[in-house]
Amino acid sequence: FVRALRSKGRKQLPPPGPWSFPIIGNLFQLGDHPYLTLMEMRKKYGDVFLLKLSMVPVLVVNGMEMVKQVLLKDGEHFAGRPNMYTFAFLAEGKSLSFSVNYGESWKLHKKIASKALRTLSNAEAKSSTCSCLLEEHVTEEVSELVTVFVELSSKNGGFDPRNAITCAVANVVCALCFGKRYDHSDEEFLKIVKTNDDLLKASSGANPADFIPCLCYLPLQIINSPRKFYQALNGFIALHVQDHLATYDKDHIRDITDALINVCHNKYATTKTDTLNDSEIISTVNDLFGAGFETVSTCLYWSFLYLIHYPEIQAKIQEEIDGNIGLKPPRFEDRKILPYTEAFINEVFRHASFLPFTIPHCTTADTTLNGYFIPRKTCTFINMYQVNHDETIWDNPSLFRPDRFLNENRELNKSLVEKVLIFGMGIRKCLGEDVARNEIFIFITTVLQQLKLKKCPRAKLDLTPAYGLVMRPKPYQLQILRLRGGFLTQF
Ligand code: HEM
Repeated sequence: FVRALRSKGRKQLPPPGPWSFPIIGNLFQLGDHPYLTLMEMRKKYGDVFLLKLSMVPVLVVNGMEMVKQVLLKDGEHFAGRPNMYTFAFLAEGKSLSFSVNYGESWKLHKKIASKALRTLSNAEAKSSTCSCLLEEHVTEEVSELVTVFVELSSKNGGFDPRNAITCAVANVVCALCFGKRYDHSDEEFLKIVKTNDDLLKASSGANPADFIPCLCYLPLQIINSPRKFYQALNGFIALHVQDHLATYDKDHIRDITDALINVCHNKYATTKTDTLNDSEIISTVNDLFGAGFETVSTCLYWSFLYLIHYPEIQAKIQEEIDGNIGLKPPRFEDRKILPYTEAFINEVFRHASFLPFTIPHCTTADTTLNGYFIPRKTCTFINMYQVNHDETIWDNPSLFRPDRFLNENRELNKSLVEKVLIFGMGIRKCLGEDVARNEIFIFITTVLQQLKLKKCPRAKLDLTPAYGLVMRPKPYQLQILRLRGGFLTQF
């Protein structure tokens, strides 16, 4: 930083920050919950400060106004991804989410992926009762989840819902990406779920080679295993995409893969300009597959934990469902008439903040932030957890209170909802926000329409997360009672 300032003859200062040790920098000061440590550091250094993670300077941004400055007002300057070892091997630089090559062709890539998702959202359902194909897939999968919950409960009484949730969400993603759902015991399916889980575990502590680049030459398992898992997942996805390329029919869009092929064909046919080649289509499907899997299943795992921890909140959601949709299968459009349920989902996003940081950003040019000079290629962490627990925005932020999102007429306060930071904002904003919100809504309402969830007697519930890229709750068990037209059936 200082060298960059001197070489440019700038008079501005670099951002403040804690003193760092040689080689390791501030790595060991971050502790088990870095987002909390960074919140503490903010008290001393302000909204913008600089750390060193080993050899790499990292700019940390906190506070809603500063985050808006970085992601919206000065978005173009902060829209890159850092050249980290892990990011570089993900799809060999062709990834939409992780590629370090930010520029015109990346913008085209994001536009194409976003158009493909829209095309899919408009794809017609096979049955007449659903509004679209996506709604149909989600509805089918959550009915299966309820059946699995009932089976688990009749076998064991209390059970950990995590595997069943992961399989259900993985199946929605498979249906979305490849038009195909699997039986929960199918071998190929279980292998994909496991490989994805292994990949996440292997990359959830930051890879040391991301911060000490020369380590990438060492044959260490911690450094090389994410690549192995990623390649296995990519191989599986490539097979499906090749099959789609061979059987594609423009009048019959089956899933995102077909939608992507369609958008690329149309774009080339009308403009004869750049579009995505086959390997970029594979990496885009891989991006959507990876992004829609762990995020949604972790959110549901948290949601069920909050529901058994706060039975009175669960009862209010059930009342709202009974009073507004009764026994009719929930639909995406019902989000408008179930404001308390929507408030609950937003409070889970805010309170759990299970993605404490966005994917790291990187500056694309020399810039200035809060009066400090920030050179090009500076890795930037956006602390979303801090914004979601900021006392200047949220009244008593550590309380879990869905009602905070309702106004005096019990309608959803949309301007407060917009202050929850979980999908990022601006140029790098999550592409799947609508898909995720719709999917989570159908899962929660369908489960609560049919089942009452309870904590196991004498069990102690722990709402503190296990830190990772995506923060999961610690394992827990629940019990269920079946609801039929408002009556409870004990197992
Ligand atoms: C990126 C959150 C579900 C597709 C992101 C980012 C966040 C996020 C925080 C990074 C934003 C940034 O770097 O500034 C979530 C959450 C989800 C979810 C909380 C569920 C509750 C999904 C789903 C899909 C998806 C279902 C796809 C169907 C993507 C993609 C990116 C992304 C493609 C990369 C965008 C880019 O680099 O420009 N998401 N996401 N996400 N998400 Fe999601």
